[in-house]
Formats: sequence, structure tokens, C-alpha cells
Amino acid sequence: MSVNASRKKITTATIRDMKGREKIVSLTAYDYVTARLVDEAGVHLILVGDSLGMVVLGYENTLPVTMADMLHHTAAVARAKPNGLLVADMPFMSYHRSTEQAIRNAGRFVQEAGAEGVKLEGGSPRMAERIAAIVEAGIPVLGHIGLTPQKILDLGGYKVQGRTDESAARLMMEAKRLEDAGVFALVLECVPAELARSITESVRVPTIGIGAGPHCDGQIQVINDLLGLATWPTFKHVKRFASVGDAMRTAVAAYRDEVQSGKFPTKEQSF
Ligand code: KIV
Repeated sequence: MSVNASRKKITTATIRDMKGREKIVSLTAYDYVTARLVDEAGVHLILVGDSLGMVVLGYENTLPVTMADMLHHTAAVARAKPNGLLVADMPFMSYHRSTEQAIRNAGRFVQEAGAEGVKLEGGSPRMAERIAAIVEAGIPVLGHIGLTPQKILDLGGYKVQGRTDESAARLMMEAKRLEDAGVFALVLECVPAELARSITESVRVPTIGIGAGPHCDGQIQVINDLLGLATWPTFKHVKRFASVGDAMRTAVAAYRDEVQSGKFPTKEQSF
């Protein structure tokens, strides 16, 4: 029996209900095998993030990621039939043109890829309107404010947001606006810990932080950073829990040496 079969399926209601009771553990995954391992470890929310662009596809940022890329990887993760809630990131320009476009593309994640919710970046009145329309169509939305990487060209770099009184007040307003629009939870990326605490205390939906300190209702990380699989400099908020990249390099070098020296394959691996 799979581990999942013995656990109760996590829904948006479960995630909402965890606020103030139990910390929400979220992590990205981009493929079937990783999704299975992450799910077996008991992660509550699996995000197919558009960080896919950097950590899997080798782009410099998330901007080149397409709907086709996201649908392909979300469907792979969905085949793992995770017990955790499966949320897909809507990529750059897939919800910016109109509300109609936002609903249509959100629907594709559910109908074609098996997502159980979508994530959109931004907390402007226009974004709240689009989120409300998607929620009204029956598709759960995870909000995302603070550092929103799809705005990298405008932000001028990956910088902590909400450091001034004005921008902190704006983020607080965005959080409340997205709560009113119907998000089931809210990602806070790279905001000062005390601001994240105030937002967490001011909204009824759970906050899930990345670089937002310990007071959020949950945490999310990019799996490659956590496993030590990143071949790029990581951010201050990252903690490495393993050195999988080093283990892979060592294993592959050992394979190379054994092939070259004739030690592999032996009789045991031969027919
Ligand atoms: O794309 C992503 O992986 C994300 C999170 C880490 C929040 O948006």
C-alpha cells in the first residue's frame, strides 16, 4: 500500500483550517519522481512553480516560461497523485491580458494538467478582479505578493519588499484585497519578518512565507535550493538540508572511473 493511500487527501479547506493550528509545509516539485518523494515525506502543498524556468529549464529568470512548459510539468506532478494539494503557477503573460484570458488559462491547468489550484502574482485591484473571477469559476487561487519575480524587469532585481512605511502599507492593503478576492492562502516572498507577522495577524487566510521570517502560517521553498542541487548562488533565506548535487557528482564520477577501468559491468550485471 502506498503511503498516500493511508493519508487523508489535503484540500484547500485543510490548508485554510491549518491557520493557527499547524504550520503548513510547502515545497516545489517539477516532475513525477520528485513529486512522489516530496509527497511521501508529508508535504502539505506542492507547487509546480515557474521557478521551473531557472532550476529545470536553464533560463535566467521566469519570464520565458510558457503555458506549454507549465502544463507539461504540472501534468507530470499530477501523475504522482499527491496527497498534498497540487497548485500550479500561472506563467508570465498567461493572465495579464484580460480576465477572460486568466479564467481560460486557469481552467487549462485543472482540465488538462490535473492541478487543484493556481497561483498568480500581484495584489493590484486589477489582479484582485482576475483572481475573484477565477475563484468564481470554481478554481482555488493561491495569492503571491512581496517580491514577485515576474515583475523582475520593473523591480530591478530580487530585492526585499516592504522596507519603507509606504511599501509596507501597500503590501498590507494588497494582502487584504486578495483575501477579499477569495484566495485560499497567500505567499509572502522576501518581506521583513515583522511585516509578515502583521500581515499574518491581519488576514484570516494562511500566509506561506519564503524569505518572510518565522511568523507566517507556513513556509515554501524551491526544492533544488533545499536539496543542495543548485548550481547558482542561493538567497539568504535558503537553508540547505542535503548535498544531493555533490552526491550526484561523486556517483557519476565513480561510474565514469569504473567504465574506463573495466570494473563495470561485471558478470553480475551481464546476461
Ligand atoms: O516559482 C516558485 O517556485 C515560487 C515560489 C517559491 C513561491 O513562486
